[in-house]
Amino acid sequence: MNVIEAIESRHSVRAFLDKPVSDELLTKVVAAAPCAPSWACTRPWIYYVATGDVLKRIREQYVELYTSGAPRANDLPTEPKWPERENENQLAWGRQRCRVQWNIDPNSTDPAEQARFNEIKKHMRIMAMRFFDAPAVIFPCMDKRLHDWALYDMGAGSMNIQLAAHELGLGCITAYHMGCYPEVLRRELGIPEHLNILLGIAIGYKDEDSCENRDKAVRTPVDEILTIVH
Ligand SMILES: Cc1cc2nc3c(=O)[nH]c(=O)nc-3n(C[C@H](O)[C@H](O)[C@H](O)COP(=O)(O)O)c2cc1C
Repeated sequence: MNVIEAIESRHSVRAFLDKPVSDELLTKVVAAAPCAPSWACTRPWIYYVATGDVLKRIREQYVELYTSGAPRANDLPTEPKWPERENENQLAWGRQRCRVQWNIDPNSTDPAEQARFNEIKKHMRIMAMRFFDAPAVIFPCMDKRLHDWALYDMGAGSMNIQLAAHELGLGCITAYHMGCYPEVLRRELGIPEHLNILLGIAIGYKDEDSCENRDKAVRTPVDEILTIVH
């Protein structure tokens, strides 16, 4: 797979096979992060990976906290309110997922259809708290004293991780909510207080048969995002 092919064929994976990922592969994937550019070669990247029994414990605590109504407490505050263009993009993506993944008409007023949708949403929220049952989760962290600009470098590192995983036959899902109970992560993974936990990147072997992996998020056509001026 060349780089362009990898970029174009990568998609988030939200259902995984029950198959562990070796430490060797996890190491290889994370080793791609520091190949990314960073401002003044500051290299802010730090990663913790949860797998095996530790991930099982984290998963149980996440589900327990979520079902008991514990508020999300991500180190990086709150979910954004998007401007119109981005808000419409995320709404359109939600409607597409309804149709493609779950065969639901998002505009349906049929109570049975709405009830089915509500059940699916409930199930997906729990699956999200279970890290989509991935066999490993990578938690990107950075020093709390770093400027917001370091997030740019962290994002570049995450992209490298996802592309390396893709090349090695693995799938990933980056998710904000995976960092929603940072105290659990600090306790179980020994992450020190001076680091912000940004989010989680669940990683594993894609379940090709799951409807959760049927959706392919749309790509904005380049002519909508590009202006070349001569
Ligand atoms: C910073 C960030 C946070 C995300 N948080 C979530 C999340 O909480 N839950 C989720 O299911 N997906 C999450 N995603 C994945 C996006 O929904 C996904 O990347 C987007 O829909 C495009 O799909 P693609 O990755 O298949 O190209 C997140 C992605 C990024 C970059």
